Amino acid sequence: MNTGYIRDWIKHRLSEERYLHSLGAEETAGELAGMFSADIEKASLAALVHDNAKDIPYEDMLEIIKANDFRLDEDIKNNKKIIHAYLGACLAEKELNIRDKAVLDAVKFHTTGRPDMTMLEKVVFLADKIEANTRDIDFREEVLRILGKTRNINAAVLLCVDRTIRSLLDRNLAINPITIEVWNYYIRTAEAKMV
Ligand SMILES: [Fe+2]
Ligand SMILES: [Fe+2]
Repeated sequence: MNTGYIRDWIKHRLSEERYLHSLGAEETAGELAGMFSADIEKASLAALVHDNAKDIPYEDMLEIIKANDFRLDEDIKNNKKIIHAYLGACLAEKELNIRDKAVLDAVKFHTTGRPDMTMLEKVVFLADKIEANTRDIDFREEVLRILGKTRNINAAVLLCVDRTIRSLLDRNLAINPITIEVWNYYIRTAEAKMV
């Protein structure tokens, strides 16, 4: 399947802003993959399709999951922030025939990350947070500066999780247990410590 077809498929599923975000993520994922010796094609593809389910209304997401018999855990189905990532992986497999588990997992874990991510998963996780089209440019530059200086992608992952947790605390919102798990995992990885 060619990238033009996939871009078109994405474009029709997303708002203009989110489509731009997807193109930005595709580009940044390719750059990060080059920097960290991950597969550039897989990283770009996963980042391009990562939010394909994000604009589907929540009730419709549940319907689609039921109608297709997609196997998602109850806690994922109940989580309005995370469900689009898991459903997005299911839809990328079903509708685009993407069978590569590494790509599908990078889509699935793009929102929260997970402990012990593969390099491809880290690249897509980061690209989603720092792409140039719709994300905060100061934060993007801070992350790129750290990556340029240290070549330590775990430090950049940690910085993203740090920012997520702080923003949730500032807004008095609940912190997902997976986010805490990811924080604990990467803060214990000595070389990931903040720089
Ligand atoms: Fe997302
Ligand atoms: Fe995204």
